[in-house]
Amino acid sequence: MSTTNPEEGGVEERRITVTVNGEPQAVEIEPRLLLAHLLRQGLGLTGTHIGCDTTNCGACTVLYDGRPVKSCTMLAVQADGHEVTTVEGLGTPSELDPVQEGFTTEHGLQCGFCTPGMMMAAKALITENPDPTEEDVRWGLSGNLCRCTGYQNIVKAVLWAAEKQRAASAAANTDVAV
Ligand code: FES
Ligand code: FES
Repeated sequence: MSTTNPEEGGVEERRITVTVNGEPQAVEIEPRLLLAHLLRQGLGLTGTHIGCDTTNCGACTVLYDGRPVKSCTMLAVQADGHEVTTVEGLGTPSELDPVQEGFTTEHGLQCGFCTPGMMMAAKALITENPDPTEEDVRWGLSGNLCRCTGYQNIVKAVLWAAEKQRAASAAANTDVAV
């Protein structure tokens, strides 16, 4: 659907529907709009940070159909019909995600700028590999930079989160079996 007339020098807009944190969002956007900008400016989800313009830092990492992507490197129109999860969708204040708990417990942040991207990358990692080694975690977070350089505690936080998630899965399986 177009809301702007290209013959008058405007850019033709496209209507897309993207499910963000479980909520379908129908928006009209310019095809050149980056997913990171749609999330931050269009939908007010400012937990997704932008820390570079070179696809380097990973502060903008979100889950796209469960896979981690750098939302500064993707056009929003590419998300049409897909599911995006941002850090706002990770847990709730009363029920934190194990990754959020891990970063809190192990002091996995300093200034916090890289933290949303780190947590989304970590979530994808421990979903795919519930029992990662330290090396697995370092590799899984290799696309994310922490300029405060507190990597040691970030790695500990992810290992803590993986252990917590395994324990929760084991408990859930026991409940089902009973
Ligand atoms: S803002 Fe996306 S990689 Fe830096
Ligand atoms: S905690 Fe400051 S950039 Fe990572």
